[in-house]
Amino acid sequence: MNPLSRRSFLAAFAGAGAAGLAGGLLRHEPVFAASGAGEQTTSSAVLPGAAERLFTNRLRLPGASGLYAAVAAKDVRQITVSALDFEVLPGLASPFWAYVAEVGGKRLLNPTLLARPGDRIELRMANRLKQSTIIHWHGLTNDERNDGVGMQQVASGRHYDYAFTVRDRAANYWYHPHPHDIAGEQAYMGLAGLLIVKDDDEEKLARALDLTLGVTDIPLVIQDRSFNFEGRLEYKLSREQMFMGFLGEEILVNLTARPYVDAARRIYRFRILNGSNARSYRLGFAQGGRLLDYHLIGTDGGLLEQPRKVREVFIGAAQRLDVLLDLRVASGNEPVFLKTLAFDPMHNESVDEKTGKPAAAAQGGADPHAAHAAPGAIADGTEMPLLRINIKSSPEYRGEIPSQLSRLPGPAAAAGEPRRFRLGHDGKGNWNINGWRFNMHETPVTVQRGTRETWLLQNNHASMPHPVHIHGFPFRVLERRDSPAQVRELATLPNRLLPQDSGLLDTVLVWPGESVRIALDFTHPFPGDQTYMFHCHNLEHEDTGMMIGYKVKA
Ligand code: C2O
Ligand code: CU
Ligand code: CU
Repeated sequence: MNPLSRRSFLAAFAGAGAAGLAGGLLRHEPVFAASGAGEQTTSSAVLPGAAERLFTNRLRLPGASGLYAAVAAKDVRQITVSALDFEVLPGLASPFWAYVAEVGGKRLLNPTLLARPGDRIELRMANRLKQSTIIHWHGLTNDERNDGVGMQQVASGRHYDYAFTVRDRAANYWYHPHPHDIAGEQAYMGLAGLLIVKDDDEEKLARALDLTLGVTDIPLVIQDRSFNFEGRLEYKLSREQMFMGFLGEEILVNLTARPYVDAARRIYRFRILNGSNARSYRLGFAQGGRLLDYHLIGTDGGLLEQPRKVREVFIGAAQRLDVLLDLRVASGNEPVFLKTLAFDPMHNESVDEKTGKPAAAAQGGADPHAAHAAPGAIADGTEMPLLRINIKSSPEYRGEIPSQLSRLPGPAAAAGEPRRFRLGHDGKGNWNINGWRFNMHETPVTVQRGTRETWLLQNNHASMPHPVHIHGFPFRVLERRDSPAQVRELATLPNRLLPQDSGLLDTVLVWPGESVRIALDFTHPFPGDQTYMFHCHNLEHEDTGMMIGYKVKA
């Protein structure tokens, strides 16, 4: 939105008395006391009272119908990719693209699909958009045909049939578009849903803590968005913005702007997906000026063996964090906020690779990005409240977090040298992996089915944080080296690993200058050669070529 249209937007809605909506626009006044990006703070959780009043929209939760409605995946016969109108901001219909399913006479938008390991999912995707699309099942182990990537792009008006078995661990997976060049826009316009796989360990935990999906077990999809002067979703990026990745003016949770949820003094489970195109978050729960302890219990690939006590955790685009928050540790009835804390976004793409100092072109004090960011966008790394949690009651509750959650076999050992991948750019505004940019007809990497490998993901100094995602095979993190201070200080595990590195991952955030060693096991049951994608999940980076195809040879 340009400054002029923003002003008329403000005038229109402040004047119309749409308090909830106008509230967010007041962000540009210092009500959130946003600390500047780059400041490294772990305790600046101060929320002026004004911010609390602005969180007046009830958090959208999965119910029986409508947005995010929970449904057994095997009962879904068809998902129609549709362009429709949806009130993202209250009272304002916006063009919105959704995965629409009709089940039992109910209409579901971006349904929360529920499955158990071993379930068969057979459904048809019908494309009613005006452009090609395809659904990718993010995190699932599928054959190439069912993985759903650009190679199976489905034209407008056409359909595509999926048929696969859920082979993976119980975890919070998700599904989203994966066509070439336009995945960012399609995800932005609304296309994304959760696929929650549950097993016996999950059910044991739900019983022990008395958790109910949509009530005390709450999926949180965090996405930033911008709206045009009519309050409509809009995705128009300059080349510079594509280079950096989309950054919006509002951070929505479950497509709710400035949301609140009423809660009781007991344990809550939050299944958090960073569904943003490009933004990373440093998540903490704050009450007044105090950060609360919470427990990380799972990652992309499901439950950890043991819960890990944390106070703040980074989450890159596409990653999931499964956490428990015990509101009995909160004092009084003051609301608790889920926040993103301040961090250095490390947009270092203009530094000199050798010296680590700003390159000549970027000298002169100017932030090379200031000119690139869309006006009104919240700077990456800005401290912001995301969700207000009101403590409404203190029921009788005796749940205690179990010390053992699940079994997770350790990473498989691989012999030999790691395969090295360098994340960087060509100095002309194009990100790449080992200098390769995506070409649908090339697979610069071939691995042998059934083998184990170590991959070394090395991010240049002159870079940005890149959430690296590998299709087809979940992986384990073995080691981090040369992590920036703000990451290192959270690395409480051996080999400088973060708490979330103790889980099974499909996406890992690699910071500028950092090297991350991961273990992959290329064992799968699919006959024949299979091609998968390996890419940055900053969707603008993906769309502009920071992706490669790799072949698993039978
Ligand atoms: Cu979540 Cu290749 O994608
Ligand atoms: Cu994926
Ligand atoms: Cu990237």
